[in-house]
Amino acid sequence: MAFQITILPSQHVFQAEADEIILDAALRQGVVLPYGCRDGACGACRGRVLSGQVDLGQAQIKALSNAERSAGFALLCCARAHSDLSIEGRELLSAQALPVKTLPARVQKLTRVAPDVMLVELKLPASERLQFFAGQYIEILLKEGRRRAFSLANAPHDDSCLQLHIRHMPGGQFTDRLFSTMQERDILRFNGPHGSFFLREDSTKPMLLVAGGTGFAPIKAIVEHAIAEQSTRPMAIYWGGRGRADLYLLPLAEQWAAAHSGIRFVPVLSEAPESDHWQGRSGFVHAAAMHDYPDLSGHQAYVCGSPAMVAAARRDFVGQCQLPETEFFADSFELANDHQSPTAG
Ligand code: FES
Repeated sequence: MAFQITILPSQHVFQAEADEIILDAALRQGVVLPYGCRDGACGACRGRVLSGQVDLGQAQIKALSNAERSAGFALLCCARAHSDLSIEGRELLSAQALPVKTLPARVQKLTRVAPDVMLVELKLPASERLQFFAGQYIEILLKEGRRRAFSLANAPHDDSCLQLHIRHMPGGQFTDRLFSTMQERDILRFNGPHGSFFLREDSTKPMLLVAGGTGFAPIKAIVEHAIAEQSTRPMAIYWGGRGRADLYLLPLAEQWAAAHSGIRFVPVLSEAPESDHWQGRSGFVHAAAMHDYPDLSGHQAYVCGSPAMVAAARRDFVGQCQLPETEFFADSFELANDHQSPTAG
């Protein structure tokens, strides 16, 4: 039995089978709703059920609080329809829907840019390119159906190689291999692009970009894309880590700011050891951004890092700095089990 789902305010309509995840049904029928993890963990697919009955499924409490449940919100990557539904939700333009491909890729270059961070460049077959939006991610396909998600660090126009920034998670099936036996010319398979964390080019608002650790990867893609597009939108980039080594491409970010008057770059360390001789900003990266931008009512914010950092940024940017919630875009890195990309929105 199929139910009719109406998305508001777009009034786009699609059908969902009773046992079908609502997000899956929407994407299958060309209604592009935002999503990140598709696992009930990030909140990117949150929508408000205005009428009808839903089964909330495996929505995790960290992504959908009890108060949000009471207010009618659901995570559309987990929810199933039990009746016809009207759902208030943000919709991406269908034109933005890109084909998702499964492709082989050769490991072109491995560069250890920090003791626990590898910069990986992947080369696609000669006849293939991956079309994606700046900030999206791919999934590396492993044995037995396992996948590991990593954000693309290169801008879409610069697609001769795909660049990933991968932190070693000891005990992680993929990253243990990457940091031990993997070699240049090895072949991987991946699937992508995925995710709704990408630069919104229909806005002229100034951007606040906040990265934690290897969350710098999609921020780099967005900044390099904006530079390539000769965007005139002001960009304030905050990159946080514990120590200096966590800011593994610091000269690159400094060079963006030096070369472009519209770009401001602020590195922030939370636990710099004395040996770092750190003279810059200290503390939590999102707190440093809030200190400098106490009024975000006219901004867009792009945030990528740990789930805790993303959650704090969402709470404080919206709750204290008047950032409209619809202008907050995020990916959170779920570091357990190797996953280093989207579980949030
Ligand atoms: S919670 Fe639905 S996409 Fe992450």
